[in-house]
Amino acid sequence: MVDPPQTTVFRQARQLLESLQAAGVHQLPQAETLRNAKPLRPDVIITEEIGPLEGIAPMSQPPLEEGPLPCSVAPTLETLRQEVTDCSACLELASTRTQIVFGVGNPQARLCLLGEAPGADEDRQGEPFVGRSGQLLNKILEACQLRREDVYILNVLKCRPPGNRNPTPEESQNCRRFLNRQLQLIAPEFICCLGSVAAQNLLATTETIGKLRGRVHEYQGIQVICTYHPAYLLRNPAAKKDAWDDMKFLMREMGTPVD
Ligand code: URA
Repeated sequence: MVDPPQTTVFRQARQLLESLQAAGVHQLPQAETLRNAKPLRPDVIITEEIGPLEGIAPMSQPPLEEGPLPCSVAPTLETLRQEVTDCSACLELASTRTQIVFGVGNPQARLCLLGEAPGADEDRQGEPFVGRSGQLLNKILEACQLRREDVYILNVLKCRPPGNRNPTPEESQNCRRFLNRQLQLIAPEFICCLGSVAAQNLLATTETIGKLRGRVHEYQGIQVICTYHPAYLLRNPAAKKDAWDDMKFLMREMGTPVD
């Protein structure tokens, strides 16, 4: 069913308010202040007072696994990339991104590595995991006798959340049709979730990464293994041993053991 235009505008406005709130903005100027402010665009007329955001009821999120799988029908990764480039479903992200970060690697890879969302470096370069976390990820891959070109690296969100905040549920939901289509087109046998945000999003669970590690999960027929995010490992080097255990487990499951 197609949303009437008012519903779409309301949904987008609400989503913008929620993402501002998630970014730490809890008050907006009263309409009077806005009326006195220099308009960004002369055709924008402020018709409603915007009160404080405190206490705004979160939008109810249908669980991702219920109902039909949200999925683009783009026939190829290149057409899907264009669809993502044209996307403005998350107003804040679409208006603050330098570019989308679609994904990189072998489109026929057996293994996808799933991160959370682009950071500042990725937003600048248009490629996932190119900053400090990416350098550590490259080393982890090397230890598994893999190169970036052997796997496919992608994120739950294709746009950078400002200030590197976590994706909001609605942003993840909006982007899910792209992630699902990427996974359908690549058709990997394995997904390795990097960190709790990626794992919890993909598997629609609130279990901690500590609990999700060490076993094989399943998503749309794909085997899923979870480990710590490289950024977490940079902050907590003691966890590198566990992450290495996870990678050895993954490589064993893939039939290419590294120990
Ligand atoms: N962290 C992520 O989760 N993804 C990236 O692409 C970069 C950092």
